[in-house]
Amino acid sequence: MKKIFSGVQPTGTVTIGNYIGAFRQFVELQHEYHCHFCIVDQHAITVQQDPKELQETIRSLAALYIASGIDPEKATLFIQSEVPAHAQAAWMMQCISYIGELERMTQFKDKSEGQEGVSAALLTYPPLMAADILLYNTNLVPVGDDQTQHLELTRNLAERFNSRYGKTFTIPEIRIPETGARIKSLQEPTKKMSKSDSNQRATISLLDTPKQIEKKIKSAVTDSEGIVKFDEENKPGVSNLLAIEAAMSDKTIDEVVAKYDGLRYGDFKAGVAEAVINHLTPIQERYYELIDSPELDAILDRGAEKANEVASATLKRMENRMGLGRKQ
Ligand code: TYM
Repeated sequence: MKKIFSGVQPTGTVTIGNYIGAFRQFVELQHEYHCHFCIVDQHAITVQQDPKELQETIRSLAALYIASGIDPEKATLFIQSEVPAHAQAAWMMQCISYIGELERMTQFKDKSEGQEGVSAALLTYPPLMAADILLYNTNLVPVGDDQTQHLELTRNLAERFNSRYGKTFTIPEIRIPETGARIKSLQEPTKKMSKSDSNQRATISLLDTPKQIEKKIKSAVTDSEGIVKFDEENKPGVSNLLAIEAAMSDKTIDEVVAKYDGLRYGDFKAGVAEAVINHLTPIQERYYELIDSPELDAILDRGAEKANEVASATLKRMENRMGLGRKQ
């Protein structure tokens, strides 16, 4: 069985962007692949986090993975910091990374621009991500399209390691969903919807109430044309809402466009909100059952144990290849 690895940062609340770009793919792929899904808390601390809040967000993210349909019998779900091989392998990946290539990462440029006291870890974030992926001999990495550049770097680092030290890693491929690879902000529909957006109206969280969802979609920025059609260039707001409804109701964009033929934006927005609410309601119900349950701890304990087994074996191989420690 081919292998999948992916991760989500426990920062802010998971948005429908994360859900459509990432979680939805995970749920679909877990039946055909051997999957590891990770809560990447060490990536989260590359920017300062409130410690108490971070631990709550980690647990909440774990519950959201399961509530979204990840089956812990099929896929391994674990917390990155509970598998020490990630940080250890990240050091080795840093040793073969060049500062220039890390400085060229657009996420680094965006997050560091205009900031004082940028952490070194913000720059070395991608080698940790490469370590995450490569430790599990990953064939495929399902992500939203904002991760493309990081994946390209991961492939380069894997190839560099293999050519310097002998074939050690599988070269992973990226998998981006056909619709919803980049869900946009509801307020600025040319920008991606982001967990860290300070404008609450720009994002829909997986845990928003039906009222909040209706309100946010009602105030979503569209245009003055009054015609529901898909045209990302000229109608980014309407196209984004179409992509959201298509993903949430498992329809094609064309089917959703046909549904609103001749209708006004008010009806369109009400329909999009309804589709989102219908999709999220069972996820939220399951989430509230799980969040304080010992079942969740048992899943994470088992996940860490299984992940440790695979990751520590790869780590040993990496250390031997690089010549660390004593001769075996
Ligand atoms: P993160 O936590 O920012 O996002 C998690 C996943 O959600 C996708 N995503 C989106 N998809 C569609 N539309 C959006 N608006 C949107 N916003 C986010 C992201 O592409 C991602 O798939 N660096 C990663 C975490 C990571 C990782 C890994 C991923 C660490 N190690 C190894 C894959 C493999 C990140 O910050 O994702």
